[in-house]
Amino acid sequence: MTIEKIFVVGAGTMGNGIAQTAAVSGYQVTMMDVIPEALEKGQATIAKSVSKLLEKERITAEQHAAAMNIQAASDLSSVAAADIVIEAATENPQLKFKIFQELDEQARPGVILASNTSSISLTKLAAATQRPELVVGMHFFNPVPLMKLLEVVRGLATDETAVKTVVAIGETMGKVPVVVNDSPGFVSNRILCPMINEAVFTLQEGIASKEDIDTVMKLGMAHPMGPLTLADLIGLDVVLYVMEVLHENLGEDKYRPAPLLRRMVDAGYLGRKAGKGFYEYD
Ligand code: CAA
Repeated sequence: MTIEKIFVVGAGTMGNGIAQTAAVSGYQVTMMDVIPEALEKGQATIAKSVSKLLEKERITAEQHAAAMNIQAASDLSSVAAADIVIEAATENPQLKFKIFQELDEQARPGVILASNTSSISLTKLAAATQRPELVVGMHFFNPVPLMKLLEVVRGLATDETAVKTVVAIGETMGKVPVVVNDSPGFVSNRILCPMINEAVFTLQEGIASKEDIDTVMKLGMAHPMGPLTLADLIGLDVVLYVMEVLHENLGEDKYRPAPLLRRMVDAGYLGRKAGKGFYEYD
């Protein structure tokens, strides 16, 4: 099947980034969200991002126009027109299972249902549908228009043709796909989130200030952002959730979430999106 039309579920940070990147890469994109304000905010984020990229001549006027032409949808009624669906809804397992059941009922047979999940088992998501061989992970990274990696996750039942198709789509979107097998946290978050968690333990134990912890990792290890700044970008709730998934599924103490991380999430200090995390934002 030739892939021309991409349907993105979710207009949040990841959903709008995926929709934008797909549109500037030549796909016809529909971005869907059940919350009208989220849809508006997603469209505004795309407009701001592509105007910046156009200014810097990193995209053409045609690509800018394509991104501004993304169709908005408030439900799944137009999903039957899609050649592939990429789900990027809130990271809540019950919600995602429900969305996958609905997508399975409404998308055409043969259409791949991809998920941008950062921690939920693709094998389980696939089992919620009647087309497990067509369920595959397309894990993008924030900010999607700038980050080169696409982690393609192969569930136990995923067919190799589905893997090959999403690899090709990822390449068309300017990404470098890496295929990994389904496992808690995949490769990216199995390594990244324990590092961030350890940074929170280091802060909690008073070993250094947040700024100094970030400086050590930026200047000593050439990370573009320190781990606490990065936690604020990702969302502390997301980091905590991934740690809980690793702890529960891999069963080792080394994945125990830092108590300070949990307290900050309890307080609503979720990072940039909340205006406050380890740092404060306007
Ligand atoms: N669209 C367009 N432009 C954008 C943008 C976007 N979405 N996001 C940032 N930019 C622009 C900035 O506005 C800035 O523009 P100016 O130079 O005109 O000010 C430019 O890109 C560069 O940004 P910065 O100057 O802030 O600095 P930078 O060179 O450090 O780049 C960065 C920013 C790419 C985010 C870099 O800091 C970085 O790579 N950080 C690490 C990000 C990371 O690790 N992401 C993965 C998180 S994990 C995840 O997403 C998955 C998960 O499952 C948890």
